[in-house]
This record gives sequence, C-alpha cells and structure tokens, in this order.
Amino acid sequence: MTEENFIPSETYKNIENGEVNAKCSSNIALVKYWGKYDLQLPANPSISYTLTESFTETSIQFQKSDTFSVKVYLEDQIQENFAAKIHTYFLSIKKYLPFIDQYSYSIHTKNSFPHSSGIASSASGFGALALCLMNMSELLGEKNSEQFRLRKASFLARLGSGSACRSIYKGLAIWGKSSNIPSTSDLYAIPFPYEIAPIFKEIQDTILLVHEGSKQVSSSVGHNLMKGHPYASTRFQEANKNLSEVCDLIQSGDWEQFGKIVEHEALTLHAMMMTSTPPYILIKPNTLAIIDKIWKFRHDSNAQLYFTLDAGANIHLLYPEREKGLITSFIKNDLIKYTENGNLILDRVLF
Ligand code: PMV
Repeated sequence: MTEENFIPSETYKNIENGEVNAKCSSNIALVKYWGKYDLQLPANPSISYTLTESFTETSIQFQKSDTFSVKVYLEDQIQENFAAKIHTYFLSIKKYLPFIDQYSYSIHTKNSFPHSSGIASSASGFGALALCLMNMSELLGEKNSEQFRLRKASFLARLGSGSACRSIYKGLAIWGKSSNIPSTSDLYAIPFPYEIAPIFKEIQDTILLVHEGSKQVSSSVGHNLMKGHPYASTRFQEANKNLSEVCDLIQSGDWEQFGKIVEHEALTLHAMMMTSTPPYILIKPNTLAIIDKIWKFRHDSNAQLYFTLDAGANIHLLYPEREKGLITSFIKNDLIKYTENGNLILDRVLF
C-alpha cells in the first residue's frame, strides 16, 4: 500500500455536530525505532508490546464552522501548547481526512498514568486521537473494512508521533519494512503476523519510575542525531536482524533468548544517545544500580526477569505472570529504593 491508498474517494455527509471517543494504550518497544527521515518514516523496523494499564482516553466534540479551531483540555485544564500542536497536526492530515478543517473541535483527554511520571503520553495520545478521527470519518460516511480502518488509524497516528502507530493494536505490533516479514510497511504498523507462543501472552511489565518529570532531550532531537551518527548503519542493520530473531523466538517460545536481545536493544538505544554529537545521557545512576541488581538476581535465582528502557531513566521489568510472587518480593526488597518516590506502575501486555 502507498500513501495514496489513504486518500478517501467518498463524498462526506453534511453533519452539523457530534462527538467521538476512543481509548488507546501506550506501548513499549522491544526492538527499538531510533532514527527517522522525511515525515516520521523509520530508519529501521521495530516491534512493541501494547500495555494494559497505561492508556489515554480522548473525546472530541466537533461543530461545523467557517473557522477551523482546536481547543484541548487535559484533565479539564485548557492546554494552549497542545492545542497549537494538534491544530498543525490536523492540517497536516487534511489530504487523508478532507473534512477536517470544516469543523471546530473541543478535545478532552486524560491519561491513566500521572503526567509527572515521565511516561511518554505521545504514543497513547496520538493513538487515541487517530482512532477518534477514524470514528468521526466513518460517522461522516467513510466506509472501511476493519483491517483498513486500523491501518489508516495507525498511518494517521504515525504522522503525529512515530511509535504511536504501534499502539493501535493489542499485543505485539510491528512497524517498518522488513524484507523477511510479509505485509510490513514504513507507513503503518501491523499486528504480529505469526502464532504467538503462550508464554509471550502472559507478560507483566512493572515500570520502575526512576526519574519523574520530562526528559532533557526529546525523542525528536534524538532521532535526528542518528543522521550522520558514526554507528547508524550498523545499528539499522542490527535492528533488522534482531527483529527477525525476535519474531522466531516469539513463535518458538524462547523467552530467555528473547529477553537477552531485548536487553541488548535497550542498552544499544542508550549507547546511541551517548555516542551522538552532541552526546547525552538519559539514564541515571539508579537505572544502572537496578540493572546491576537484575543481573545478579537472575544469576542467583534463575528468574525469567529481563528489562527494557524507553528514551528515559525508567526501567520496564518484563517477566511471565507465573513468576509474579518471586519478582514482587525482589522489587519490594531490592529495587523500590532506587525509584524516585517509591513509585511504580504495575502493567501487563494487552491481548
Ligand atoms: O515515537 P517517538 O518519536 O516518541 O520515538 C520513540 C522512540 C523509542 O521509544 C525510544 C523507541 C520506540 O520504538 O518506541
């Protein structure tokens, strides 16, 4: 499929006003997208787990209007900055939703996780927004198959924030062209196209909030620093290889080997930041202290616990549900002291 496939051919109904709603979860990448070109096209393919407890709920009230305008409320508080960003975003997708500038919008949004937690809300936020817009488009007469509806939502979410395109699906989602995996595309994400071994469906994700608040360097800046980065081409090749391997391991049920690649991916992401020009470091001393404890614990107890990191200092602990008791005591006794305010989010994969 190409971008042209997302340009609708229908004539839309003349509806004066209405309301649409959507909920979308955040996701955590296992093989990371890091580096982009043009309009949020990924330099390498990625795969993620969509979470259950970390989500955004959005409702959009729309009213036919001669002047296109956008108001945004986060937890009922008006947000001028978000409104300006969404105003620009809406105009940027007019080609795919031609009615978009014929209305004025009042957007109410809330996240299940605290704003200060350092958990990025852009994936769940743009995911929920794109799903709302698809609901609106269908109210106005666009007719789509379920697969196309999700693809278009994913395509629109990507234009807002790259990784948001994976949040449209439950479970595992792949975004980015991979020569080994059929139907993959740089334009939108697809659901994992193979059988998933049972252990991969019961994965818990406990997020340790090591550093709350916003990060010093945004992901957009980080992606751009991959242009001209001395290790970029090796990194992109490795991500392709890791994605193929991870897909095989998810089918064969090899959680241990999968965990090793996932940890390597997380450390590589941060290594890319540290070796960018200019360099920067988002992990904190306590992130390293936790990693050290995890490796020691795994060595001593044989626990099936692995970690990943997003573009920040927080740590995602990934483990099968059957080890919940063991890992919960480990977190309580050895890890919680490294979090900023004793804060963590108990999440799990959404299937
Ligand atoms: O979608 P962005 O621009 O916020 O970038 C996300 C980058 C990572 O979270 C670090 C990796 C990923 O694939 O989600």
